[in-house]
Amino acid sequence: MTQDELKQAVARAAIQYVVAGEIVGVGTGSTANFFIDELAKIKHLIPGAVASSEATASRLRSHGIAVLDLNQVTSMPVYIDGADEIDSTGAMIKGGGAALTREKIVASVAQQFICIADGSKLVSVMGTFPLPVEVIPMASAVVARQLALLGGQPVLRVKDGQTVLTDNGNVILDVHGLSITNPVGLENVMNNIVGIVTVGLFAKQGANVCLLGMENGVKTMTF
Ligand code: 5RP
Repeated sequence: MTQDELKQAVARAAIQYVVAGEIVGVGTGSTANFFIDELAKIKHLIPGAVASSEATASRLRSHGIAVLDLNQVTSMPVYIDGADEIDSTGAMIKGGGAALTREKIVASVAQQFICIADGSKLVSVMGTFPLPVEVIPMASAVVARQLALLGGQPVLRVKDGQTVLTDNGNVILDVHGLSITNPVGLENVMNNIVGIVTVGLFAKQGANVCLLGMENGVKTMTF
């Protein structure tokens, strides 16, 4: 199976977690995109979705799924999203698609985080994937110095020669070289650095369920 086929398989499996009559939170990235395509098939069962990025909002709309403002939403049974890495406790690195801040906000409203990922995302210790950190642009240098003191090598994210800006107008520092043995502790420490908007560590509030795409089928992990 290709990686895309594994992503499609978990996207299909995630549909069972969507609650009829209730709003669903939708993540960002290639796996989330496959989920949106599956969600379109049952769109008549839900009032709409809350999107974690402009890209997700436009894909939802292109399928005729109503996109709701989070400020109008008080309850959301599930948030469904991919991950860049996930460990055996359900802690995740996210933000490969630069949507980490809105992802964390939407996830915070949901009762359950359903992570959908191909099997390569499961790791014993996170940090091989550089940890994305969203930063206020004027603070990028001072924050980079603080992150270096924690043992990482922060690199400003650039694509096609341009500094990547998030949907919120901020920049991303990708922190290389970390071995994240205490994800909750590191999330707490980084949350206290002035100038950081969001750390792409989802450990204090990690996944409740992970649907992992494996060669022999979809494996369900609960945390
Ligand atoms: C975007 C994210 C994504 O969930 C993460 O990057 C995984 O992406 P993909 O499903 O394309 O592998 O956090 O900010």
